[in-house]
This record gives sequence, structure tokens and C-alpha cells, in this order.
Amino acid sequence: MADLSKKEWEKYEEPQESHVYKQIATVMQKGISPDEVAEFYSKWASGLEYEKELPPDVYNAPIITALEAAEGFTDEQKSTAKVFDVAAGTGMCAVQLRKHGFKHIDALDPSQGMLDKAKEKNLYERYICDFITEKPLDIEENTYDLLTICGGMGEGHVPCNALYEMVRLVKPGGRVIIVTKESHRYVTEDYKGRLEPLMDDLEKNGKWTKVKCEIIPEYMKDSDGLVWVFQIC
Ligand SMILES: C[S@@+](CC[C@H](N)C(=O)[O-])C[C@H]1O[C@@H](n2cnc3c(N)ncnc32)[C@H](O)[C@@H]1O
Repeated sequence: MADLSKKEWEKYEEPQESHVYKQIATVMQKGISPDEVAEFYSKWASGLEYEKELPPDVYNAPIITALEAAEGFTDEQKSTAKVFDVAAGTGMCAVQLRKHGFKHIDALDPSQGMLDKAKEKNLYERYICDFITEKPLDIEENTYDLLTICGGMGEGHVPCNALYEMVRLVKPGGRVIIVTKESHRYVTEDYKGRLEPLMDDLEKNGKWTKVKCEIIPEYMKDSDGLVWVFQIC
């Protein structure tokens, strides 16, 4: 099963908490394929169950991501900035980004069911149903001022090599913000010993500069989260 801490497994036994933890354990289990992940989320999105099970007092990531994003831009910049919300899901991050004044946001997510929920709320300018990987998307380089990944990292989710595509898509001076559960960097097969060295290599090779790498408490209930902020060179 997935990378749940002992504390989380204890909660998993509590009836009121168990369903959401079971869902996460299932969609982040080792060996799950990208298509299975996308299909799983489409089912979870139906009836807005995903959002009902992850309100802000349970799952803080969208609020944290938007706060970080807001710090890097003036009010005027926020109103014109082009934002790419990768692993956008049902748009919970865009709701928060909009509260901070970001207006031009595109979404990418491989789960059509999740994107359909976002569409109902009219949150994005573009809805792209695809995976981010190392393969270039059909989007010009240097298109975005800000790229966010909120809760999109983990077993079977956004792969390490997608960092190259993030760097390609964001303009020099623009930012990449990744918010994730802290333990993913150690337990996710693809990330173990690779994700942070790759982040460092990109910095050594003059592609981006690390602005922040900070552990945040209560990312999801009492699990720590991690915020990375990079500025593109
Ligand atoms: C936990 S949800 C987070 C959704 C949203 N950002 C939020 O905070 O509610 C993870 C999302 O990552 C998406 N995802 C998984 N693999 C992906 C990939 N390679 N590229 C982009 N999105 C991916 C899933 O479809 C799912 O919608």
C-alpha cells in the first residue's frame, strides 16, 4: 500500500477519516500506472466527492500554494501574469489563486473527470487533458510567469523528469511552485535519490534558482508538507 505514516494508518482505522485515507492509499500505491491514476481521480471527482472529502481543514495545499504564489508578484503583475496550474484537478488551487488576484490561469490534468468539475466553475482559460512528463507539451517555451503543482507529486503522479518541461514552459524571471507532502521525496520510487539531485543539477546548470525549500506543518491533517519555490533564469 502507499506511503502512509504510522499516525496516518491509525487514522485510517477511524471510520470518519478512513475513506479519504483509503482513497489516497489506493491512488498512490506502488506500481499504479498513469492511466489508472487518471481514471481513479475521474471516479473520485464525480458528485464533487473529492472536494467534499478534502476541505481546507483537512487539506491545506491549495491555500499554501496560492499564498506562496502571491508573495512573488505585485498586485499589477498578478492581474496580468499567465499561470499554469499543473495537476489542476477540480481547480481548488485556482480558487485560491483567484482570491489573490491571479486572473489568467490555464489548467493541465490527465483526469477528464477532475477537469470537468473545474470547468463547471469557470476557473481557467484553457483546460488541457494531458500528463506532464519530460515530453514537450504542445505549448511554446517561455509561455508562463508562474507554474504551480499543488498536491500533484507522489507515487504514480508527476514524474521527476517533468522538471525539464516545467523549466521550458516558464519565462526567465518566472516561478515554479511545488507543494507536496514532505515524505514523498523519500518514499516515492521515482523521487528517491533523484528528485532533489535533479533540482540541484538544474540550478548548477543555470536553469533556475531555488528561492525556498521549507517544511510546513499540517499540510494534510498532521502530515508535514513541503514547499519548493524556484525562479527561472
Ligand atoms: C491530489 S490531486 C491534486 C489536485 C489539485 N491540484 C488539488 O490540490 O486539489 C492530484 C492530481 O494530479 C493529477 N496528475 C497525476 N499525474 C499527473 C501528471 N503526470 N501530470 C499532471 N497531473 C497529474 C491527477 O489527475 C490529480 O488530479
